Formats: sequence, C-alpha cells, structure tokens
Amino acid sequence: MKASAPGKIILFGEHAVVYGRPALAIPVTQVHADVEILDSSRAGIWIQAPDVNLHVELNTLPSDHPLAAVIHNFLFLFRVTPFPNLEIKISSTIPVASGLGSGAAVTVALTRALSSFLARPMPDEEVNAFAYEIEKLHHGTPSGIDNTVVTYAMPVYFVKQFSSPFGRGTRGEGIETFRVGTPFTIVIGDTGISAPTKESVGDVRKLWEADKTKWENVFDRVGKIVEEARKNIESGKWELLGELMDQNHNLLQEMTVSSPELDRLVSAARSAGALGAKLSGGGRGGNMIALVNVNLAELVAQSMLEAGAQRVIITQVS
Ligand code: PMV
Repeated sequence: MKASAPGKIILFGEHAVVYGRPALAIPVTQVHADVEILDSSRAGIWIQAPDVNLHVELNTLPSDHPLAAVIHNFLFLFRVTPFPNLEIKISSTIPVASGLGSGAAVTVALTRALSSFLARPMPDEEVNAFAYEIEKLHHGTPSGIDNTVVTYAMPVYFVKQFSSPFGRGTRGEGIETFRVGTPFTIVIGDTGISAPTKESVGDVRKLWEADKTKWENVFDRVGKIVEEARKNIESGKWELLGELMDQNHNLLQEMTVSSPELDRLVSAARSAGALGAKLSGGGRGGNMIALVNVNLAELVAQSMLEAGAQRVIITQVS
C-alpha cells in the first residue's frame, strides 16, 4: 500500500497568517513524500526512513516524535487492537525545515497509507484535522496552512480560525481554493540553511508582544497585499504580483525573518530579470520564490544558483 503527498510553498502572507490575516499557498508536485506499508513477519511496527537515517521499532521512539505520534494517534483513534505487525517505509524528496512543508507531507502520506492499509477510510477533512494536530508537535503554534495545502493538493487561500471547536481551519472553515486566471511561473530557490519555523514564529511573537499596535498595522499591510495578489491571480494579471512580492519581502525583513542568504537570492533573482521576489515560509533560511516570465526562468534560476542557492525548482502555478 502506497501513498504520496506533495510539498507546498507559500506565495504571500506568511507570519501575518498566524495573526489572522489571509495567506496564499500552492502545492509543489515536483517534490513529495512517499510512504509504503507492508505486512511484516517480525513482531512490531518497524519504521524505515533512510533519508533521516531512521531504522527503528515504533516503541523505541519518544512518544512526541512526529512519526510515532502519527502512528500511535491513528491506532488509538481507530481503536486498532492488537497492534498489527508492519513495515513502514518513508522517503521524501522535500528538503527538511526549509518551508516546503516536509513535515506535513510525511504526516499526510503516512496517515493516508495507514488509512488504506488498515481499511479505516478517512475523508480529506479528517486527514487535515489529524495532520494539524501533528503539526503542533513540529511548529508549536502552526496556522494550519501547511497541512491544508498538502492535504487538498490545491492552491489555497487560508485564514486561520480562532474560534472553531475543532481547531483552526481543520473542518473546512477558513479554507478556500482560488482560481488561477492565467498560469504563471515561479522559481523556488533553497538557501540550504535549515531554519526551524518555531523559532522565527516565536521571535515575531516577541516583537508583537512588545508593540502590538505597530505589528498589527504591519500584519494589516500584509493582509492587503494578499487580497490584492489573489485578485490579480484570479483575473490573470499575474505580472502585477512581482511588485506585491517585493512589498511583502520588505515587510518580512521588517519582521526580522529574512537573512543575508535569502536577501542575496532575492537580489540575484531581481537583477536577472525576475518581476519580483520574496522569502517564503518561516524565513531565516529555507526557500525564496521569484516571479518570472517563462522564457527567463532558466536564466533567473542560474543566477540564483550562482548567488548561493543549493537547489532551484521551476514550477508553474495553474
Ligand atoms: O516555514 P513554513 O513554510 O512551514 O511556513 C511557516 C509559515 C508561518 O506563517 C511562518 C507559520 C505558520 O504556521 O503559518
């Protein structure tokens, strides 16, 4: 039994989304997490995740380890007793801690593989709610955007829900997909620096706590950029997104979540002819994105590599 889930990238609105402003994100299908489950002849639930050098029996993992949490919670939720003997193979081409949603993708693929293998069907909204609970172990206070895009594998306009008894945006509330009027191209550049989202989110919280009026105002400005970006995407005026990306990047710099490496890739992309560029995700490291005319994509990607990107992905948003 096999299941797969894509990576994701945030186009606009990271960080402010934690404070109730909207964000836009899309799946990135060029990278993915894959899980295979097989019956096992040896006792126990054996996990093989060679990418992270993990070859263990479930019970030897700490209970708050995200993989252990997915499996334990799943077996508990569906009252699977006695525990089956399983061989679980996990692999992923999504770089870890870089803003491409690797944690959420592994969780969603593993949940779906368990659901199929153990014949416990789960609709998307349940997979999403389940994955959100696991995201809390990765992130602390996640908005829920990662698990949502990865679960539905569609472009998402996301607003965190504060009052839902089921959690945030986990039952379909606050989740809207949006239409892409005319497909457009972005280049994703990875700084190769892994930066835990939990830390940058925590630092932004400290800034906000010290001066709520100032930061609420900054988040409002991000929210306006997101609304305008959505309108332009829907009406096919994608060229106008470049300027909005630049504005969003400036506000993220103000939030202290950019870094010299990210800024270098952003500048290189702009100099090579990108219409705009910004960091994407938690920041401090991880990825940035650049909006390009399709005929310039290779050139911009090359300049980003020369400016230090460890890898680049050219992807079409459609
Ligand atoms: O680093 P990523 O792509 O997982 O995204 C984090 C996005 C934040 O807005 C910074 C945090 C969140 O939970 O939405």
